[in-house]
Amino acid sequence: MADRRFDFARDLQLKGDLVAAADLLLQATELAPGFASAWFTLGEIRERLGERDAAISAFRKAQAADSEDRHGARLRLMRLGAERLADMPQGYVRALFDQYAPKFESALVDDLGYRGPALLYKAVLAARAAVRKPAFFRRAVDLGCGTGLAAAAFASNVDQFTGIDLSPRMIEKARATSLYAELEVDDLLHGLRRKPDAGAELILAADAMVYVADLVPVLAEAARVLAPGGLLAFTTETHDGEGVILGKGLRYAHSADHVRMSIEAAGLNLSLLEDRSARNEDNMPVPGLVVVATKS
Ligand SMILES: C[S@@+](CC[C@H](N)C(=O)[O-])C[C@H]1O[C@@H](n2cnc3c(N)ncnc32)[C@H](O)[C@@H]1O
Repeated sequence: MADRRFDFARDLQLKGDLVAAADLLLQATELAPGFASAWFTLGEIRERLGERDAAISAFRKAQAADSEDRHGARLRLMRLGAERLADMPQGYVRALFDQYAPKFESALVDDLGYRGPALLYKAVLAARAAVRKPAFFRRAVDLGCGTGLAAAAFASNVDQFTGIDLSPRMIEKARATSLYAELEVDDLLHGLRRKPDAGAELILAADAMVYVADLVPVLAEAARVLAPGGLLAFTTETHDGEGVILGKGLRYAHSADHVRMSIEAAGLNLSLLEDRSARNEDNMPVPGLVVVATKS
């Protein structure tokens, strides 16, 4: 009965009858108090109706009903200012990209003009040219490797790639490329922590830091894993204010100053920081940064 009410509520939501949909969702949650999807949808509708407190209460119920928070209720609470900015729920990222994996490359590259790996490639070549060193690396770690687009961009410049990603489905796609010597289903910070000191000459994160609120722990771990002279190159979204924000698209945007301070705090040296957009949204480039930091 709760499922039927939920399905009916979704139909009403799609038709724009939000008040009737909310009513049915309330009935569904009375019948099934642990129905995370119903609570989450109710939260979305309450938010659209401008009922902030009721939205917060529904998102909290959605969060409590699913320990993995696959809908990302916590992110909605952050956007509503009801929770402080913190890392994304891993269950949310995994569910999002597992679902996205079959269509990831066409959706991102064809529809959104994604160019993160090409930006990183150009930036790494420029950073190496500036210190008159060749851009060839024995071991590289690709953080949030997804389907393997960054490894493809650097294939001629790297001997051995390790890819780390939270989403098993994205890792399956990366495995099919045969570009990686090792692939790990793991959180990128956790995966880096398991790597030996000075074990890589290059660390890449193409469009992955947008899922990381606090850059410092990841950058500090990258500093430990890089060999002297090694490079960390990443893209992120940015904004004109201060610090980190969670944008409308539910990705973090880091201000340029915040990136600079995080690099310094992690003990790395900034080699390159440029305003470059890695993707479009609504046919407009999303403000972004491409960053290269060096381990001395
Ligand atoms: C937008 S995709 C980019 C994939 C790839 N780097 C590329 O350039 O095509 C972001 C990837 O980061 C992964 N990801 C996000 N947060 C992560 C985390 N904390 N640990 C590991 N992977 C993460 C996602 O699963 C997803 O595959």
